[in-house]
Amino acid sequence: MFSCKISTLILFTIFISHLHVQTSATQSILYDIYPFIRVYKNGTIQRFIGQDTVPPSFDPTTGVQSKDVKFAPNLNLTARIYLPRYANPAHKIPLLVYYHGGGFFTESAFSSTYHNHLNLLVAKANVIAVSINYRLAPENPLPIAYEDSWLALNWTFSHFKGSGNEKWLKKYADFGHVYLGGDSAGANIANQMAIRVGLEKPGYGIKVVGMFLNCPYFLGKRAIGNESNSAYVNVETQMKRLWLYAYPNSKSGLDDPLVNPGMDPDLKMVGCNRVLVFVVGNDVLRFRGWYYKDVLERSLWNGVVKVVEIAVSVNYQLAPENPFPIVYEDSWLALKWTFSHFKGSGNVKWLKKYADLEHVYLGGDSAGANIANQMAIRVGYGNMDHENLMKKLWLYAYQDRKPGLDDPLVNSGMDPDLKMVGCKRLLVFVAGNNALRFRGWYYKDVLEGSLWNGVVNVLEVKGKDHVFNLNTLQTLRP
Ligand SMILES: *[C@@H]1O[C@H](CO)[C@@H](O)[C@H](O)[C@H]1NC(C)=O
Ligand SMILES: *[C@@H]1O[C@H](CO)[C@@H](O)[C@H](O)[C@H]1NC(C)=O
Ligand SMILES: *[C@@H]1O[C@H](CO)[C@@H](O)[C@H](O)[C@H]1NC(C)=O
Ligand SMILES: *[C@@H]1O[C@H](CO)[C@@H](O)[C@H](O)[C@H]1NC(C)=O
Repeated sequence: MFSCKISTLILFTIFISHLHVQTSATQSILYDIYPFIRVYKNGTIQRFIGQDTVPPSFDPTTGVQSKDVKFAPNLNLTARIYLPRYANPAHKIPLLVYYHGGGFFTESAFSSTYHNHLNLLVAKANVIAVSINYRLAPENPLPIAYEDSWLALNWTFSHFKGSGNEKWLKKYADFGHVYLGGDSAGANIANQMAIRVGLEKPGYGIKVVGMFLNCPYFLGKRAIGNESNSAYVNVETQMKRLWLYAYPNSKSGLDDPLVNPGMDPDLKMVGCNRVLVFVVGNDVLRFRGWYYKDVLERSLWNGVVKVVEIAVSVNYQLAPENPFPIVYEDSWLALKWTFSHFKGSGNVKWLKKYADLEHVYLGGDSAGANIANQMAIRVGYGNMDHENLMKKLWLYAYQDRKPGLDDPLVNSGMDPDLKMVGCKRLLVFVAGNNALRFRGWYYKDVLEGSLWNGVVNVLEVKGKDHVFNLNTLQTLRP
């Protein structure tokens, strides 16, 4: 569920190049932190990203449904709730409360970026999610975003044990398994919310079990890591300006405990026992991600914090000199090489020392995204130990469930409700070379053995592997 958002990196690149062209017409500008925000002296505000919005929907790709709900009607504040495809009130699912990024100045829970991100996250992790829309600076300077975010969390919690008015939360959310998460400025907010949970103990028996911070936005007056190196200094300066303009009344500026966790006497109160921090090798914020782990561990906090860093950047040979599949071959070799550092083997010290190769993420943009997709499919094609990978995925996605691999949610043979499948005709697709094919056939067996009143057929395609047709759009001829 901890997918990386690379857009922050892209933004940094955009505004670095922008710095060189933006010299004239500055007299009428109060401040300009492109592409986040440009504020004119006459009060006009321009935002260059994250301004589009999409309505809640049924997403046909993932089967995730969403709807908008007001959590503070007096302030006209809204959140978007997401429900995964196979939600079943008999098996409540974990609840994720998500805070979007955007430097406190841009984006919303309703932008296409976050709507798509949450659809994927909810489908992959099988959680119900509440994606919070908080008010933005400069119209609403900090700490308003934190206050809105707390109202939203408190409102969400008010649905514990069937109380409250929101039907999906009442019916499907397991309040014994709540997660907080966010990216960039949203990860900063998630950390504050976790601390407030620890301080105020909302009670009712609600348990926040974990939190993930995706490329968290933290800062500090003193530079750490390579922040003051020439490669980073421009971006770092912009990051700092974002904070100072978003929170003009902060007493301690860049060392405000809200943005520098090393200055926060309440850090030890983080109200969950597991924290995952995701950092990216080329992101100036990565040093703050590692620093967060350091200071959290040095506080008296009682929990485990892990950092996952993606540091490998692959140089692939470009077409047309090389026939197209070479790109994939190079990338595949690079991925296999990366995996060869599993369990301390291999030669690259960083990978051996810091990389958790049981939690590997693939990413890329445009053609790179296509490559990442191909690589993911190859991992699925059994070039790795596919069955083990599948098991790890499940156990990691659902660490808190006792039955593990025999959880009724993943082992249909253990599901007393299987007979309740609410349709009369069921078609199961399996692929001959896929480790999961036996589970497909087994599903037919147990469904037929249950008291279900319907017909189930299995369509097996020989010589193919896991979800091959998603990628090739091949006609199915079993
Ligand atoms: C404010 O100034 C900008 C830039 O000069 C201009 O584009 C905008 O129309 C002005 N807005 C108002 C309300 O005067
Ligand atoms: C309430 O917020 C929505 C967007 O979430 C906006 O379209 C609407 O105009 C707002 N209503 C008021 C009264 O501010
Ligand atoms: C939190 O929710 C409870 C009801 O569940 C309410 O009594 C309380 O006032 C709320 N607190 C805040 C800060 O909104
Ligand atoms: C900092 O930059 C230097 C080169 O400028 C590099 O050798 C070193 O690995 C970098 N350190 C980190 C933690 O990125």
